[in-house]
Amino acid sequence: MARNPPVPETYYDRVAAQHALPLWVDTAQYVPKEPTPPYDPALWRSEDIRPLLMEAGDVVTPEEASRRVLVLQNPAFSGFQGTTRSLYACLQLILPGEHAPEHRHTQSALRLVLEGEGGITTVDGGRVEMAPGDFIITPSWTWHGHTHEGDTPMIWLDGLDNGLMAQMDTTFFEAGQTELPGTGPVSTSVEEKHGEPSEGGERVLRYPYDKARENLEILRKVTDIDPSHGYRMEYLNPADGGSAMPTMTTMLMLLDDGFTGQPYRSTDGTIFTVLEGEGETMIGGQAFPWKRHDIFVVPSWSEYAHRADTESVLFSFSDRVVQLKLGVWREARSS
Ligand SMILES: [Fe+2]
Repeated sequence: MARNPPVPETYYDRVAAQHALPLWVDTAQYVPKEPTPPYDPALWRSEDIRPLLMEAGDVVTPEEASRRVLVLQNPAFSGFQGTTRSLYACLQLILPGEHAPEHRHTQSALRLVLEGEGGITTVDGGRVEMAPGDFIITPSWTWHGHTHEGDTPMIWLDGLDNGLMAQMDTTFFEAGQTELPGTGPVSTSVEEKHGEPSEGGERVLRYPYDKARENLEILRKVTDIDPSHGYRMEYLNPADGGSAMPTMTTMLMLLDDGFTGQPYRSTDGTIFTVLEGEGETMIGGQAFPWKRHDIFVVPSWSEYAHRADTESVLFSFSDRVVQLKLGVWREARSS
């Protein structure tokens, strides 16, 4: 058997001086046997974060800030690194009469309305009305702004693929007009499209909550419960039956009162928002109790299990659709 020759004393220094790395040293660091996400499970309680968001209403106007938004920063990260490596979850506040000016960016964005009525998101000049529980899409590179024609504060979850765009260095941004928008046609919602043949190129930008909630009830009647996810549906693009968004998989799940889920894990780090109910999710052996409007993140390949103390509805988003397109997505269940 051949014996390894001794490595010359200065060899690794000379390699480093050429900005090169010897892959045979600590190979596992570069190619781990399974995902080792460098971020943590975490939960943001509405009762803690909402007062700070409301305080931002006194501190800064949307015009000054472009967006009055708090990014839910993973505690393992520093700076604007987001909630997972690929995704940002944020909370946005807009007060009655305010206007967040138009801009566009290559990041795709989703909105999940938590509070308030009368908010309008404009997408390329079209008005998209916002009501609690609605899931709204701002596609990549579309002009968008927000106005508030109601009389109570509006708060919503923003979900963006900022980390994904940053890792690929594909981020572009452009600021737009500052005058009030909203003269375009009202956007088509899924409810309005229901039962119609798809029309080439027409985008669905709003998925109303009342319709989604109805669909969950239908699921409960006609399907078997999933042992990990309860009754769960994915938001789809009716034009092609694929994911509602090209970079983010979006789902809504209903957990029965007393539901105790079996442990599950998948490679898509997932951000959950509680729309109804109370319960707890065990993530990697750590308990995260949650209530309405709390937001929590499960890292890639971390085992988790939900428990619902009352009937609960959770919205989730992740980069699963990207992983599926690349053929790398995995899941595992245990009982
Ligand atoms: Fe934006």
